[in-house]
Amino acid sequence: MSGKLFIRTFGCQMNEYDSARMADVLRESRGYTLTENPEEADLVLINTCSVREKPQEKLFSELGRYKALKRKRPEMKIGVGGCVASQEGEAIGKRAPYVDIIFGPQTLHRLPGLLQQSAAASTPVVDIAFPAEEKFEELPAPKTASPVAHLSIMEGCSKYCSFCVVPYTRGEEISRPVADVLAEAIQLERQGVREINLLGQNVNGYRGVAPSGGLEDLAGLIRYVSKLKGIGRIRFTTSHPMEFDGRLIDAYARFDKLPSYLHLPVQSGSDSVLARMKRGYTADEYRDKIARLRRARAGISVASDFIVGFPGETEEEFADTLALVEDIGFDQSFSFMYSPRPGTPAERMEEQVPHDVKLGRLQRLQALITGQARRISAQMVNTSQRILVERPARRGEGLLAGRTGNNRWVNFDGPPSLIGRFVDVAITEALPNSLRGRLLPESLAA
Ligand code: SAM
Ligand code: F3S
Repeated sequence: MSGKLFIRTFGCQMNEYDSARMADVLRESRGYTLTENPEEADLVLINTCSVREKPQEKLFSELGRYKALKRKRPEMKIGVGGCVASQEGEAIGKRAPYVDIIFGPQTLHRLPGLLQQSAAASTPVVDIAFPAEEKFEELPAPKTASPVAHLSIMEGCSKYCSFCVVPYTRGEEISRPVADVLAEAIQLERQGVREINLLGQNVNGYRGVAPSGGLEDLAGLIRYVSKLKGIGRIRFTTSHPMEFDGRLIDAYARFDKLPSYLHLPVQSGSDSVLARMKRGYTADEYRDKIARLRRARAGISVASDFIVGFPGETEEEFADTLALVEDIGFDQSFSFMYSPRPGTPAERMEEQVPHDVKLGRLQRLQALITGQARRISAQMVNTSQRILVERPARRGEGLLAGRTGNNRWVNFDGPPSLIGRFVDVAITEALPNSLRGRLLPESLAA
């Protein structure tokens, strides 16, 4: 059987990765091909996220669109996956009985079987179990046309930060064995991938079974992946500061395939807020780790995630966050207003911060970070930067686009044959969201 598959993805890189795996498994098992147009789809999947926004409302308004399509074409199937599915399960089917399948982040490999079951069922088929190891064993090899790929090295999170829903929707941390990660990395390398982003909710907690039988941590895994000749750049997302240890700092001194960029979510610069968040470190411990990192790798850009308006956050506590932002000199970062998540301890805390106070703080924080990031971009003008050429530029006829080590897009003039190669460019101009560059032809010889 073959048909057209439309996937709507909400949320983080992890969800993007999962959506790509859904496409893989349905292509291999049932010949489904992806379409950008839900009107022509035989199967519509919604991959939901419940980390921040109002996910239920978003899901049901999205479902409304596909319900109308299904009325016209009753043979069309609709599936809901991801974290909202994991949390709500059968309740989704009660409110939207036209949904055919409901599956969690850990059961997406079972999609072909679920589709088969739903053909004979009169109510939605639900499978939101947590068999993470099975998922990785059964997924087919990923297919990609891009020189940049994500590779999931672990699932779930066992940190239970008081604001976060992830441990409840994705389960506890489970690491893939080193050999499996390497086998996938080699397949990606053979398809022309040159940059790999090792993915997990908390990759610093990686403890994968090593070929020797012991356990390997993230630094050890990076050492293995860095041996692959075709892979020139290794990133990892997301890190937790508590487990960002000496071995990883040391990896920055040893492996130049790690770019001069680290995303290390701090959330707040106030010790009292960090304690209420159950983050397990203080602002000074964070400062100390970054100082050690900068001794191992001078000039490294540090990016972060922040939550403003956590329950009880005072103006003084927020000022501590602004002070930390200046001390570290954070580069482009993500900042969010605290959003109460059902079932988390922070949701039940008193002294929820009013929305307008949260918004005001968010704007002040973002203005500060944007100013710092623009200064970093401006300082890059007239320097030479190594970029991986990823694709034609979205704007600008004939231009190519690639990313620097510190995660900035550079648009420059060059032949399409450079896509998939590392080249050096001289940065000629810093724009608000990207850089302009000039190809340094000497680098083509390398
Ligand atoms: N593992 C990462 C870490 O060490 O913090 C975070 C993963 S989390 C899914 C991604 C980001 O979403 C967090 O860093 C946090 O800033 C934000 N986030 C999570 N829960 C949130 C909430 N309830 N309200 C606002 N932002 C939230
Ligand atoms: Fe969430 Fe904290 Fe884990 S933010 S994903 S519980 S490290």
